[in-house]
Amino acid sequence: MPAVGARIGYDVTAGGAFYFHPVDAVLNGTCTNPNVVVFGEPGTGKSSTVVAAMLRMMPFGVKTLISGDVKGEYTPVLKALGATPIVLGPGSPARVNALDLGPLTARWDTWTARRQRSELTWILGRWVQLLTALAEAQGYAATVTDEAVLAAVLRRAVGAADANTRLRPITIPDVHRALADPPDELWRESRFADRRQFLDHLRPITDALNNLVSGPLAGMFDAATNVELDWDAPAQSMDLSRLDSRGDKAVAVALTCLGSWSAIATDLQDDGEIRIVVRDEVWRQMRLGVRALMSFDSELRLSRKHKIIQIALVHKPADFLTVGDAGSQAASIARDMLSLFSTRVLFGQTTRVATELGDALSLAEKERLAISGWANHRRGRALWKTENQTGRKVQTVLSAVERRHFDTNIQLRSTYRNSRRETSRNSGAADVASGSIGARDNQSVET
Ligand SMILES: Nc1ncnc2c1ncn2[C@@H]1O[C@H](COP(=O)(O)OP(=O)(O)O)[C@@H](O)[C@H]1O
Ligand SMILES: [Mg+2]
Repeated sequence: MPAVGARIGYDVTAGGAFYFHPVDAVLNGTCTNPNVVVFGEPGTGKSSTVVAAMLRMMPFGVKTLISGDVKGEYTPVLKALGATPIVLGPGSPARVNALDLGPLTARWDTWTARRQRSELTWILGRWVQLLTALAEAQGYAATVTDEAVLAAVLRRAVGAADANTRLRPITIPDVHRALADPPDELWRESRFADRRQFLDHLRPITDALNNLVSGPLAGMFDAATNVELDWDAPAQSMDLSRLDSRGDKAVAVALTCLGSWSAIATDLQDDGEIRIVVRDEVWRQMRLGVRALMSFDSELRLSRKHKIIQIALVHKPADFLTVGDAGSQAASIARDMLSLFSTRVLFGQTTRVATELGDALSLAEKERLAISGWANHRRGRALWKTENQTGRKVQTVLSAVERRHFDTNIQLRSTYRNSRRETSRNSGAADVASGSIGARDNQSVET
């Protein structure tokens, strides 16, 4: 790797510094796309390495969007950078419309009719994918007819059918309303015999969308967007930590909505800047079902610029595959999807998972052993592999400042500290012991 971009740490075999600049790698022909997938067991240092990469790309003018920070881990880093994360979840007034037209509305008038048509087809395609993914999360697998009707509903709702008008903003409740109470033209246009047949046929998807609007995410993704991304900030994030109590599925659905929303927003943000979009914990979304996987896949595929670096963080290859059996449609999408990430960063794994990774990524025996052995012996160790080149063993080096602002064990540490205080108080030696424990605590924080 040429010495360009973020200096991540050192190459333990060659001994030199290791640099990372995926856009440069695409331009000089080292790889075909700038996307990065990071594999690793929890706690191996995936997120920390991504934070280091993000901070160290900043001097090159690269900005970052954290699309869904499930645990709120990035919030202290963002604050230290002077940016304000958008907090979504119970108690927060922030809303993100899953069907946001984003920058499309502002550009619309400047485009030719032909460009308008193609942009609209593109955004409607993404929305249909998103809505069917959301329906699947509610336990309903959408049919081709559902998809065709959804596309027709969306097209009518945004006002694409009427010539020369501006696009109308729409929300999921608008779609639900059109399905539950269809105008006559809609069922005729979709070739149903009558209104009754339309209602019967579309009942499952109508109800699935309604559950979303009234379920644990009610109000979060189904009203007009009232937050604005600050495109000038060095980094932006959407903190989902408040959703934690609402369960895994709610978090996964939220990640799906946010992913789609930020993909459209970043794709249309035409300021010529290189941007990193981080999809931490994206495996949660992938587990929702084949549609959620397809939605993520199309966000990667439809990204029309090589100026967006997508970084996806997952645990193991099975995250891509749990949605279907080997040989199924999902498995083949998942396999193809891996090729959309030229750079693979492989942190420590168990022997079993390392073998799976070896198969999925055609790793050499030596590379596989590095992941199941060497990488597990210290945090921040990973095999960095670009397409078919031999992987390089790299140790990420964090600065003291980075470690202070990105300590994902902080909660665990403070709980542990409190429980120790509690124990010493109960033992009757409170005065003496708490003093000394306090002193040791301070010391450990400093170091
Ligand atoms: N390269 C590194 N050097 C020192 N400590 C690290 C390094 N990478 C991670 N850590 C520490 O390990 C802990 C877990 O790291 P994290 O990045 O959250 O892992 P993951 O995202 O894989 O679950 C954090 O407290 C972090 O400070
Ligand atoms: Mg992490």
